[in-house]
Amino acid sequence: MKNYRIAVLPGDGTGPEMVREGVKVLQAAAQKFGFGLDFTEYNYGGDRYLESGIVLSEEEVQELKKYPAIFLGAIGHPQVKPGILEKGILLRLRFELDQYINLRPVKLYPGVETPLKDKGPEEIDFVVVRENTEGLYAGSGGILRRGTPHEVAVQESINTRMGVERCLRFAFEYCRKRNMKKKLTLCGKTNVLTYAFDLWERAFYEVGEEYPDIEKDYGHVDAVCMWMVKNPEQFDVIVTDNMFGDIITDLGAIIQGGMGIAAGANINPEGTSMFEPIGGSSPKYTGLNIINPLASICAGSMLLEHLGEKEAAAAVEKAVITVCDGKIKSLSAGKMGYSTSELGDLAAGLIN
Ligand code: IPM
Ligand code: MN
Repeated sequence: MKNYRIAVLPGDGTGPEMVREGVKVLQAAAQKFGFGLDFTEYNYGGDRYLESGIVLSEEEVQELKKYPAIFLGAIGHPQVKPGILEKGILLRLRFELDQYINLRPVKLYPGVETPLKDKGPEEIDFVVVRENTEGLYAGSGGILRRGTPHEVAVQESINTRMGVERCLRFAFEYCRKRNMKKKLTLCGKTNVLTYAFDLWERAFYEVGEEYPDIEKDYGHVDAVCMWMVKNPEQFDVIVTDNMFGDIITDLGAIIQGGMGIAAGANINPEGTSMFEPIGGSSPKYTGLNIINPLASICAGSMLLEHLGEKEAAAAVEKAVITVCDGKIKSLSAGKMGYSTSELGDLAAGLIN
């Protein structure tokens, strides 16, 4: 029997409650499809930081590299200054594990409410491929004469040909495999960011020559936001840089039903990948057993897909679809008609 070792980082706030249900459903899928999942939990996050002063040590990062996948809950603690845990855990892992792709499906399931008028599951089904190790997130820049009237703050966007190209290649391959509209949209800002997106645009059309079967499309990020609301059906796969990807995927999450369901994968195709709900740690709902675990369960489905357990991944997604279509009352915390753990039980019971 195949057995996979998975690191679990429940993290902060409602992270542990969500992850618990995700693990429950993954175990049900493993049992059903005849493979093993061996989960090892690590307590990295805000509470541990407040107790020990350690955000994440070098040894801990190295240890995580031994796993094919990490299942993450949420990072962010109300008593810790914003940035410390996000940069010290989430972004550090994305960078050090070289998870250069952040894959974020925007898919409206039947029965889920979208704020977009007259749009349904037929219209809202695309995937954002976000570059995940460069751009404005690279940490290049600095601050001079801080706190004085003469202060200067510089934050640069780093775009390497290698980093851009591997991201584009992944997006083209993904679009081909997805085999839907076979259209890849580069989301940029070539009219203003004439250095960064000059590189992106040239690389896009150059790499694109290797993919004659894929239609190449381009949109400025502001226009892409508009079209995501007005005509989301025009998109198949969108590829973009780290910052724009961050922004447009929150918009994507809300049109697919919100943070209760949106999940993403931080992928290193040759190393350790990490799967997470897109939403935060929701401190105000912590410990109440009312948070929606579907986003974690969807992240779990992406994890199984990544491991190559495609049937199991599809079964988990099917369970989520069944829950969404008629069972759950709302995707919002406290309004689901189920507690967090009841919803996990329900989804796990639907794996067949
Ligand atoms: C996300 C989050 C993170 C990001 C934050 C928490 C650092 O917003 O995963 O989209 O900006 O990438
Ligand atoms: Mn974000």
